[in-house]
Amino acid sequence: MSDTNSKKIIIAIDGFSSCGKSTFAKAIAARLGYIFIDTGAMYRAVTLYALDHGAIRSGIVDEEAVVRLLGEIAITFRFNPERGASDIYVNGDLAEGRIRTIEVSNCVSRVSAIPEVRRKLVAMQQEMGRRRGVVMDGRDIGTVVFPDAELKIFMTADPAVRARRRYDELRAKGDAVSLEEIERNVRERDRADMSRAVSPLRQAEDAIVLDNSHMSVEEQMTWFLREYERVLAAR
Ligand code: DC
Repeated sequence: MSDTNSKKIIIAIDGFSSCGKSTFAKAIAARLGYIFIDTGAMYRAVTLYALDHGAIRSGIVDEEAVVRLLGEIAITFRFNPERGASDIYVNGDLAEGRIRTIEVSNCVSRVSAIPEVRRKLVAMQQEMGRRRGVVMDGRDIGTVVFPDAELKIFMTADPAVRARRRYDELRAKGDAVSLEEIERNVRERDRADMSRAVSPLRQAEDAIVLDNSHMSVEEQMTWFLREYERVLAAR
């Protein structure tokens, strides 16, 4: 291992949905010259493939059919300088835009609860982080994927604040949603993420909590750099 690589660490970022994990993780990776890996995108990519290949019909997930398809799904990432992050490809086809549709969002939590799906994606994630120098965001990174990550961050924010951010985002895109509906959805997803049988969302014992309810992106970066220096100094 080269000297530069030996200094690189794994930064695991877990936490609730809609608390800005990806934005934060992407900013950190750019700052450190690390690779950013959005594991939610991988669960979304499997869901998209299942939708395209008849394993999900009318919103009903046929788990056995999803498992049968797994062997033929190859997920890759390619850096896109315009976005400053990697785009996800499924069997060579760009899937970045299509994985964020409401259709995928509605089915992804059921697909991500299938043990075989988790086994396959966790193994891929572990391989991607083998040489360290990655910032990985998800729900089980500090607990299951990299329990030995040098820096684990558990992100959270007040559900009302998260609902407000999501509401502003959707309204900006022209979606006619109500704040009450969004807040109900945020709370329901928190409950589903924490109570599923396989790899539920929970804070690793050695994770540090970042509650960004009232923090700007710059304040989060300042907070992060302090923690990062602390970890490096302790090595
Ligand atoms: O972060 P996101 O909303 O794009 O994640 C999509 C879904 O995938 C979400 O329902 C939680 C699930 N997920 C997971 O189970 N484990 C991960 N490491 C990342 C995401």
